[in-house]
Amino acid sequence: MSEKIILTGDRPTGRLHIGHYVGSLRNRVALQNAGDYSKMFVFIADAQALTDNIDNPEKVRQNVIEVALDYLSVGLDPEKVTLFIQSQIPELTELTFYFMDMVTVARLQRNPTVKNEMILRGFHDMAEEGEANDNKKGLPVGFFTYPISQAADITAFKATTVPVGEDQKPMLEQTVEIVRRFNGIYGETLVEPQILLPGNSACLRLPGTDGKAKMSKSLGNCIYLSETAEEMHKKIMSMYTDPLHLNVSDPGHVEGNAVFTYLDAFCDDSHFGLYWPEFSCLDELKAAYTAGGIGDVKCKKFLEKILNQELEPIRARRKEFEKDIPAVYEILRKGCEVARQAAGETLAEVRKAMKINYFDDADLIAEQAKRFA
Ligand code: TRP
Repeated sequence: MSEKIILTGDRPTGRLHIGHYVGSLRNRVALQNAGDYSKMFVFIADAQALTDNIDNPEKVRQNVIEVALDYLSVGLDPEKVTLFIQSQIPELTELTFYFMDMVTVARLQRNPTVKNEMILRGFHDMAEEGEANDNKKGLPVGFFTYPISQAADITAFKATTVPVGEDQKPMLEQTVEIVRRFNGIYGETLVEPQILLPGNSACLRLPGTDGKAKMSKSLGNCIYLSETAEEMHKKIMSMYTDPLHLNVSDPGHVEGNAVFTYLDAFCDDSHFGLYWPEFSCLDELKAAYTAGGIGDVKCKKFLEKILNQELEPIRARRKEFEKDIPAVYEILRKGCEVARQAAGETLAEVRKAMKINYFDDADLIAEQAKRFA
C-alpha cells in the first residue's frame, strides 16, 4: 500500500493559463520527471465540467482537445503519464453512486467550494429554489454532488498524492472523509489521498493581469499558455502595477502589484544575470523599486523576457502537436484504456467489499444453494 500514485485533473471549460501553470502544471511535470511514483494519471474532467455547462456541450467538447494540447505542450509525457478523459471511464460514475450513501446533504452544503460556487453561479440558497423549475436558477443535483464524483475520481485510482490548487482543499478533505467512512463500514479497501500544494505562495493564486484576485476567462485577465508572444506582450504592457507609482522617481509598492506577484511566481536569480545584471536577486529589485527610481515598463520588460523564456518551448511543442490532432486523440484513447483497467480493478474490490459481487462469489452461490436445499 506504500506505493505512490499521483492523480489530478482539470475541467475543460477553457484553455489553460499561467495561473494553472504555476498552480499545478509545472508541479506535475516536475513530479513526472522525478519519477519516484508507481503510476501517474492526469485527466480531463469533462463530466464535471458538464455539471454546470449542461446547455453547452460544444464548449466542453472543444476544450477537451485544448486542454489535452496544453498538457502535452507543458511537457506531460504520455509514455510516463496516463492522460485520459473522465467521461470515458464508467467505473467513476458507478463509484460515485455508491459514495452517495457515504455523505449527507448537510455535509455537502457545508463544502465551501460548493457553497461559493453556488453563490457565484447564482444558484443561491437551495431553499430559495422554490418552484423555479428551470435549470438555470435551480441547483442541478449533479453540480451539488460533484465533490462526491471527485472523491470517486481520486479513489478509483487509489491515488495517494493529488497535486492541485488551494481551491481544491475542501474536495480533498471530503474525499478523505468518504474513504474513512467507506473503509470503516466495508473494511480497508480505499486509500486516503494527500493534497500537494505549490510551495510558493504567489503560485497558490496568481492574480489576473488587472490585479484582480484570480485569473478568469470571464474577466479577460488571463495569459494563456497557447497565446502568441505578441498577444502576451500587449497584456503585459497594460498590466496593473501600483496606482501610486506615477513617476519613475516615486517610491513603488510591490504588495498587490501584479507584476511583482508574477515575478515571485516565475523569477529566479539566474534571470538577473541574463536580463537585468544590475541586480542579483528579486529582493534587491524589490528594495530598489520600493525606494523609487525604477520604472514599471522596465519591470514589465523584465517579466516579459522571463515569461517568454518559460513559455517559448511550450508554444513550440504545442505547434508540433497541433500538426497531428488525430494522434492527440489516440493518446487520449489509449490513456482511457489504461485508466479503465486500473479503475476496474478498484471497482472489483469495492463490489466485493460491498457484497454486490454476486457472480464472482462461488461461496455465496453454494451457501444460498444450501440454505434453500
Ligand atoms: N475540480 C477540479 C477543477 O476544478 C477538477 C477535478 C475533478 C479534479 N476531479 C478531480 C482534480 C480529481 C483533482 C482530482 O479543476
